[in-house]
Amino acid sequence: MILPGSVSQSLAAALADQLDEPLAVVETDRFADGEFKLRVPDAGGDRAIIVAATTSAESHLELLQLQDLARANFDEVVTVLPYMGYARQDEAFRDGEPVSARAVARALSASTDRVVSVNPHEPTIGDFFDVPFDVIDAAPRLAEPLPDLDGPLFLAPDEGAVGLAETVRDAYGAGETDYFEKHRSYDTGDVAVEPAGTEPAGRSVVLVDDIVATGSTMAAAIDQLHEQRVAGVYVTCLHPMFAANARSKLAAAGVDGVWGTDTVERPTSAVSVAPAIADYF
Ligand code: R5P
Repeated sequence: MILPGSVSQSLAAALADQLDEPLAVVETDRFADGEFKLRVPDAGGDRAIIVAATTSAESHLELLQLQDLARANFDEVVTVLPYMGYARQDEAFRDGEPVSARAVARALSASTDRVVSVNPHEPTIGDFFDVPFDVIDAAPRLAEPLPDLDGPLFLAPDEGAVGLAETVRDAYGAGETDYFEKHRSYDTGDVAVEPAGTEPAGRSVVLVDDIVATGSTMAAAIDQLHEQRVAGVYVTCLHPMFAANARSKLAAAGVDGVWGTDTVERPTSAVSVAPAIADYF
């Protein structure tokens, strides 16, 4: 049985379809104090596959409840984290900070047999789990919605994403890759990017990153590319978080197209990772 988190209902339904497994309809009761309780009346069977992106504090609590009811009613529990929240705080970057990814991983290990995630920010976060942790690579699928571009440049907004840009370029079948040097203030979150080595003037550029969260990174990169007189700028990412006004920031900066996957379900989620997850199972 597939148990969906409330923010991953479309992905869970697509996976249930692909695996030909029943899809649970999760009932939610909310109490006056804001706490909530889940119920799956027909829960039971050999294996529960929970599909739940953890995009907020509430979705973490929801997932813990799904895991708990699954542990009590199924022989095997597999937790699929299409997007794992708090994964970017994978170390204490400054004195006195927690390793939030470790705290979350420990909690999510308590009532599951294994955890599967789609392109986590750093695969090494798997070490924080007390149960086996597998990674699904959906990056090649990012090439699917891109338009026909003449000699595109696949650009990562920082060096950490250059491997991702190469994967998308390889799947697209043409183009060069490069990356910006990115600097982000730990205090303000402000982002600055320095031009890449490759000359982008007159070319179509596809910016590739794992996450678009506030949109600051992509907006800074788009600004920089327009200063360098590119022909067009497209954005693709695995996890289209698009918090607050992020989508508007990209539009205001002059982006020509934006695509992401359904690890985070948004209007830009043009690519489904359901086939990649189904392949895993
Ligand atoms: C950082 O290392 C990530 O790969 C993304 O570049 C970052 O999370 C994007 O964040 P934002 O959209 O807030 O600039």
